[in-house]
Amino acid sequence: MKMGGGAKPFGVDADRVPALVRRIIAAGADWRGFHIYAGSQALDAEAIIAMQAQTLALAAELAEAVGVAPPKVNLGGGFGIPYFPGDTAFDLNAVGGALGQALSDLPAILKDTHFCIELGRYLVGEAGVYLCRVIDRKVSHGETFLVTDGGLHHQLAASGNFGTVIRRNYPVAIATRFDAPADEVQSVVGCLCTPLDRLSDSAILPHAKVGDLVAIFCAGAYGASASPANFLGQGAALEMLV
Ligand SMILES: Cc1ncc(COP(=O)(O)O)c(C=O)c1O
Repeated sequence: MKMGGGAKPFGVDADRVPALVRRIIAAGADWRGFHIYAGSQALDAEAIIAMQAQTLALAAELAEAVGVAPPKVNLGGGFGIPYFPGDTAFDLNAVGGALGQALSDLPAILKDTHFCIELGRYLVGEAGVYLCRVIDRKVSHGETFLVTDGGLHHQLAASGNFGTVIRRNYPVAIATRFDAPADEVQSVVGCLCTPLDRLSDSAILPHAKVGDLVAIFCAGAYGASASPANFLGQGAALEMLV
């Protein structure tokens, strides 16, 4: 998801920043520096390296225009995680190596600046598992639905309704049947009265029954906090830190 450049509702246009910072400093505030955020869920190390290089260049350019060195520069997040078949984790060593090189070769105005990156998804996404229970097994026009007590009010991102262009299934399993063969096409849906409430579409899973638990993996980021918990009144997800 690209979140920098062009017309954006979020953040401050780069060409307005120098005047804004000068005004902040002139007002006597303790200006702490720049927070530059370009986007989320990048899996291409070369793209992340290029983004960080451009971020450093932009920070230097803005600092020169202000005429003051920034005490801190936040280089944003954007480190993605593999959700879907064919996704592969990006090369963290390559990104680290390039960033180390860039930080050892900084423009003069950034020589005393402290840098940080602000990761969200990369730190917690793969650590989270969303569990819900099958409460009905329904066949409609030949398609089998595992109706669960969960849904998009707990896990909007897995339902594909959180900024996804093409809906794809998060990794999914029947957590009470890990040993059984995955040999049946079943769709996992939530309990809300909307066709958007689909947690996994036509996945190949072990035959599941009422009472089985469904596990949706990679659920630790943009989960409960990014979902409409009150929508249709089924209750919020229970979050547990193990
Ligand atoms: C300003 C800012 N920093 C950090 C993040 C975290 O991003 P990510 O999930 O790519 O790590 C976001 C997410 O939108 C953000 O808006």
